[in-house]
This record gives sequence, C-alpha cells and structure tokens, in this order.
Amino acid sequence: MWSTRLSRLFGIRLPIFAGGLMWLSDARYVAAVVRAGGMAFMTPRSFACDAEYERQLALCSQLCEGLPFGINLTASQRSAANVTLRRQLDMALDAGVRHFETVGSACLECFDRIHDANGVLIHKVGFAEHAVKAEQHGADAVAIVGMEAGGHPGMHEQSAFLSCAYALEKLSVPLALGGGVGHGRQIAALLALGCEGVVIGTRLLACDEISSHAAVKARIIQSGSYDSVQVLRAVKHPWRVLHNETAKQVLCLEAQGVADYDGFGELIRGTLGKTAAYDAGDPDTGLLSLGQSVGFVRQREPVAAAIAQLVQETERRWHEQFCQNNGCP
Ligand SMILES: Cc1cc2nc3c(=O)[nH]c(=O)nc-3n(C[C@H](O)[C@H](O)[C@H](O)COP(=O)(O)O)c2cc1C
Repeated sequence: MWSTRLSRLFGIRLPIFAGGLMWLSDARYVAAVVRAGGMAFMTPRSFACDAEYERQLALCSQLCEGLPFGINLTASQRSAANVTLRRQLDMALDAGVRHFETVGSACLECFDRIHDANGVLIHKVGFAEHAVKAEQHGADAVAIVGMEAGGHPGMHEQSAFLSCAYALEKLSVPLALGGGVGHGRQIAALLALGCEGVVIGTRLLACDEISSHAAVKARIIQSGSYDSVQVLRAVKHPWRVLHNETAKQVLCLEAQGVADYDGFGELIRGTLGKTAAYDAGDPDTGLLSLGQSVGFVRQREPVAAAIAQLVQETERRWHEQFCQNNGCP
C-alpha cells in the first residue's frame, strides 16, 4: 500500500510529504522526516542570509546520511523576490538537492531548470484546475491542499476531499493530497481514493525537532479543531492561522473594511510571529500558520514517533477494511 508512483519518484519508503514550513522547516526537522521514511522540504526564505541557507543545506545532507531531502520553492507575487527564488534553486542544485516542492505560478519557470539537472518536483496548489495547469507545464507530480490547511490554501475554499475527486478525474501525473490530514484513517481513505501520497504540516508542529518555543507547542497541543481561522480574505491572500489575539485584531480590521496590506501594518508581518511567538514564546502575538487538523496534535514527541503513529493508524484501518472484511486487494 505504501509503494506508489510518488514513493518511487521521490525514492522514499512512505509517500508522506511534510510540506515546507516557513521559519520552521530547517535541516534538523527535514532530516527527521526523511529518516522516518518520508520526504520534507526546507524553506530557504526562513534563513537570514545565503550563508545560513548554505550551512543548513550542508547540515541536512549530513543528517540525512545519503537519503534524499527536498527544498520548498515558494514564488512570490512580487517579481523581485523571484530573482532570489532562482538563486535559491541554483544553490540547492549545487549542493546536490534534486527533490523540490514548488508553489506559485512563477515557479513554473523553474521546471525546466530542475529537469535539466535531473531533478523531480511536486507542484503544490490550492485547487484542481491549477493542478491540471501544473501538469500541462510539465510537473512530475501535483499536490493539492484544501482549505483546511495551515498556511495559504488559496481563495477558492475547496475542501481536500472535493479537490481530490475533481483532480483525479483529470490528472495523469500522481497526486498527493493535504489540508486537514492528521490521522492515519484519513491517509487510508486518500490512498483508497486514488491519491498516491499525502501532504502534512500541522500534525507535526509540536514535534521535538520543530524549532519553536515550548509555549507555542503547548498552545498547539491545547488547541482543538476550532482553534484555527482564516484571515486576510480581504486582500485575496487567505492565511489559515492560530485563532490568537493577533488573528482577532486582523479579523476586526477586516470587518471594518480594511482591504489592503498597509492597512494591517505590523500585525501581518511574518517576522512578528517569528520573533514574538516562535522565538520568545508568546503564542498570542503574530499570525502563526495552523490548520484544522490541530486537534490531532496531542503531545510533544519526536517526528519519528508521530510518523510511526500515522503509519500504524493507516495500516490498521486499511487492514480492517480490505483484509478482514473483503479479502486483501
Ligand atoms: C507553520 C506552517 C508554515 C507553512 N509555511 C509554508 C511555506 O512557507 N511554504 C509552503 O509552500 N507551504 C507552507 N505551509 C503549508 C504546508 O507546507 C502544508 O501544505 C500544509 O501544512 C498542509 O496542510 P495541514 O497544515 O492541514 O497539514 C505552512 C504550513 C504551516 C502549518
């Protein structure tokens, strides 16, 4: 059940993709997922300078002990930022990385560069129509994350379950599905539907290898499925985050009619969450990406334990469904 086109394409034992996490998916976290059998992606934008990114690339290679790891390339709506993106891609290729998660239409221009270097990429989108476009542009695989996902799930508010069915009707390349996946029961269902991998983010946020303050992890563990909320629909770039004090202030401004980035000032700066919450331990300050699967995050634990639990839950459900009742497929 774990051997799919996606596991073979990425050379991994488990087609479990830990999507890039701004500020958090550094070498230590990525290597922990890779050593547990999955694939994870470092986010170069999280590092203060190129030298630190280079250091993290080298550290990750060392920690992965020969296993492949990935880089997340998230394109910006600002074209100047995409010059940086191309440099980050080149630095990854120079360091021997050949596995990429790409996000945003400007990344389509990177596909040839990745393929010319014998690399593979999974292009992540928010709904099925964009997945089809990515396939037409030459993506090796596509990931769709539904509106349940932490981070920026896109404007169209489609659930992962719905997007999955639409996309599978149209795609030839393999599909990974994410957004709200926090239990192996869901992974078994997605594999049965025809997905060949899953994308997770929120489920791993309280893991030991995540470099955020213990107070933020404690808040995440206390949170239930209602504790994430979408903000910034007003600027057409929705962001699913922890429903904390900053999120409440942003929602309040949106209700008052604020509809441009400047109107929110410092409140929506990513660096606010990084310094005040992830570094200093105040979970109420800053917008902190968090998805609806947060209710499945129940304790601090190593990444390997969280992934082992997901695998066990998946296999148990698969076995109950296909082996006990109907005979193994
Ligand atoms: C804290 C956090 C930071 C994220 N940062 C990024 C990012 O920088 N780039 C990106 O492509 N996706 C980012 N995402 C989205 C994840 O890669 C992944 O697609 C998503 O978490 C999957 O949905 P889930 O949170 O419901 O598991 C982030 C998600 C979280 C929770």
